[in-house]
Amino acid sequence: MSVKKIYEEMKTKLGNVVPDLELKYKAELVAKINQLKKEKNAVILGHNYMAPEIYHFVADLGGDSLELARKAAETDKDIILFCGVKFMAETAKILSPDKKVLIPSLEAGCSLAESITGEDIRKLKKQYPGVPVVTYVNTYADAKVETDICCTSSNAVKVVNSLDADTVIFLPDEYLAGNVARETNKKIISWTGRCEVHEKYSVQDIDDIRRQFPDVVVLAHPECRSDVVKAADFAGSTAAMIKYVEKHDAPCYLILTECMMGDNIAAANPQKNILRLCSVRCPHMNKITLENTLEALQKEQYEVNLSKEICEKAAQAVKKMIEIG
Ligand code: 13P
Ligand code: SF4
Repeated sequence: MSVKKIYEEMKTKLGNVVPDLELKYKAELVAKINQLKKEKNAVILGHNYMAPEIYHFVADLGGDSLELARKAAETDKDIILFCGVKFMAETAKILSPDKKVLIPSLEAGCSLAESITGEDIRKLKKQYPGVPVVTYVNTYADAKVETDICCTSSNAVKVVNSLDADTVIFLPDEYLAGNVARETNKKIISWTGRCEVHEKYSVQDIDDIRRQFPDVVVLAHPECRSDVVKAADFAGSTAAMIKYVEKHDAPCYLILTECMMGDNIAAANPQKNILRLCSVRCPHMNKITLENTLEALQKEQYEVNLSKEICEKAAQAVKKMIEIG
């Protein structure tokens, strides 16, 4: 597609969230990326937090962690370019060990993934022998290797309830563990990991917005503190929040998650008022840009390298989760 045509489409779709001057420059990058993607037989997976120009114009497949893990396992392309953070690209590699998996920035980490190691989990298993370990997909491969089954925010309760045990070790997100504990009869042993973005939202934020916008519907990610989730009208994964806005008629929503997702929802629902608190940002997701996505394809960087042995061991826990859905 010509740069002019891409620019026109971007203007129609993103005109309400991206300034026109930026769109002209971005359209040229989008054209280059999409051309190179074809030449290299690559697929681009884009997390829901990606900037609108990436999410709507270069990602072939978008979604939350669970949807992207499934899509990564199914692709027949030679290269998977992951526009998201490192643990997500690693999960793609674990599920497709023979493919070249790339991530545009090595700085795209995650405070949850960094909060726990495989060694930490080995110690917990010694402390609680026989207790099954559920690990959030927001972890690195060395932690997944020590795990019985992974989960994402969209299936955490289902995964915990699927286990034939009264007590479950649930790692590493302290707040997600607390939110899951309220929805299950099982005893949950948790860790002290936190998402540096979602931990910042407070009930005060919700009260302030409700005062200014009395008809607002508040959506919170389950990585938020329990009191925030309780004060919200709905809690769910990033994909569940997107679907919620699509399916409901309310005119105004507050999205308590990475602000960029609010831009993506606003672009797709121009008739609705999408409120977001942009003083709270994910510094990791924001490392991914059109510029470094293009560079990643040109130079085939940065490749995710995991040994076959690690991939095999970690895949068991990820595949069990995918089977549960
Ligand atoms: P989702 O699985 O809901 O997309 O969450 C991923 C994440 O990193 C949230 O901060
Ligand atoms: Fe990790 Fe939080 Fe960023 Fe998601 S928003 S990638 S959980 S730091």
